[in-house]
Amino acid sequence: MNPEALRTLVLEDQATDAELAVAALAEGGLRCAPILATGRAAFEAAFAAGRFDLVLADYSLPGYTGLDALAFVRRTDPLVPFILVSGALGEERAVEALRAGATDYILKHGLARLAPAVRRALGERRERERHLATSRALEQSQERLRALSRRLLEVQEAERRSLARDLHDDIGQALTALKIQLESLGRSGAAAAPAQVQACIETTQHALERVRQLSLNLRPLQLDDLGLVAALRSHVDAQAKLGGLTPHFDADAVPEELAPEVESACFRIAQEAITNVLRHAGARNLSVSVQGGAGTLVLSVRDDGRGFDLDAARRRAASGASVGLLSMEERTALEGGKLELRSAPREGTTLLATFPLEGGSIP
Ligand SMILES: Nc1ncnc2c1ncn2[C@@H]1O[C@H](COP(=O)(O)OP(=O)(O)OP(=O)(O)O)[C@@H](O)[C@H]1O
Ligand SMILES: [Mg+2]
Repeated sequence: MNPEALRTLVLEDQATDAELAVAALAEGGLRCAPILATGRAAFEAAFAAGRFDLVLADYSLPGYTGLDALAFVRRTDPLVPFILVSGALGEERAVEALRAGATDYILKHGLARLAPAVRRALGERRERERHLATSRALEQSQERLRALSRRLLEVQEAERRSLARDLHDDIGQALTALKIQLESLGRSGAAAAPAQVQACIETTQHALERVRQLSLNLRPLQLDDLGLVAALRSHVDAQAKLGGLTPHFDADAVPEELAPEVESACFRIAQEAITNVLRHAGARNLSVSVQGGAGTLVLSVRDDGRGFDLDAARRRAASGASVGLLSMEERTALEGGKLELRSAPREGTTLLATFPLEGGSIP
């Protein structure tokens, strides 16, 4: 491995001392590209202007100290390795420097320690950066989860409102009408007119139809009645017709007995992905396939539409602007599966949801 030269800012008023430090690094196998600053103005200007892998600072200079330089650096950069290189540094000052955020300190007559100290500092820096990246990723996923919960509650509320409205306006009205018709029938005794009975039957039929539609929206009954493959096929056909698309459906080696949770997740994800194709893709073809085998079930929904910028859509979703992509990801993850989206502007979109069939999870 031949790493690039370390961009190194050296604060030192004695040119020979700076050269000795650079030579000590080279001897220890570390190539560096030094920029020398001999006082405050030069040091602060150079640090503000450039990005450095390493700062070496003498402890005392005329009108400026290594600690001043350290405070300046740490105001904007908590991570860059900062090593004090000093002729003599008492224990107290050394402790003070470490507390203030110095990475290490080296005595000028012990420069052999410099290269190992820099190596350790660079390793620690990489470690801290990895750690920061992990916590940032964790924070982002928590933020997404919060956005999703917020949206889910909103969606749940909206569904309840619409269900309440349908129950009240439609079924409530029908049952009230039925009650009045039946009361009137009761008053007219046994000789009820056939027309009145027919009206009762029609009102009942209307109410039945509404109840069927409502429950269909709440849970896809086709899943229980027909199984996943037939339910998907009929959904794909119906939606493609609605959106003027050519449907392509393909199922292969899908086990008869699937866990109901996997079945629901697969169907709901297909529903959302197909709705997205209809709403956003401007596509001509809609291809859906579901494949079993090797302990997994793979759902694929593909369109040849305009495609989109995945990262931008994810950012919008994380800020709460939409819920579809997130809920598809969450549903797959809940079943131990993995969701993959491939899309780029003008290149269509492919969604692949892979579920494990024998418990466990997809890496
Ligand atoms: N098949 C697709 N083709 C083109 N763009 C898509 C497709 N699927 C998703 N998108 C883009 O990704 C965005 C996010 O999708 P998502 O399903 O999260 O939100 P939405 O459909 O806008 O709203 P909802 O929360 O109601 O689902 C969409 O607004 C759209 O811009
Ligand atoms: Mg959507």
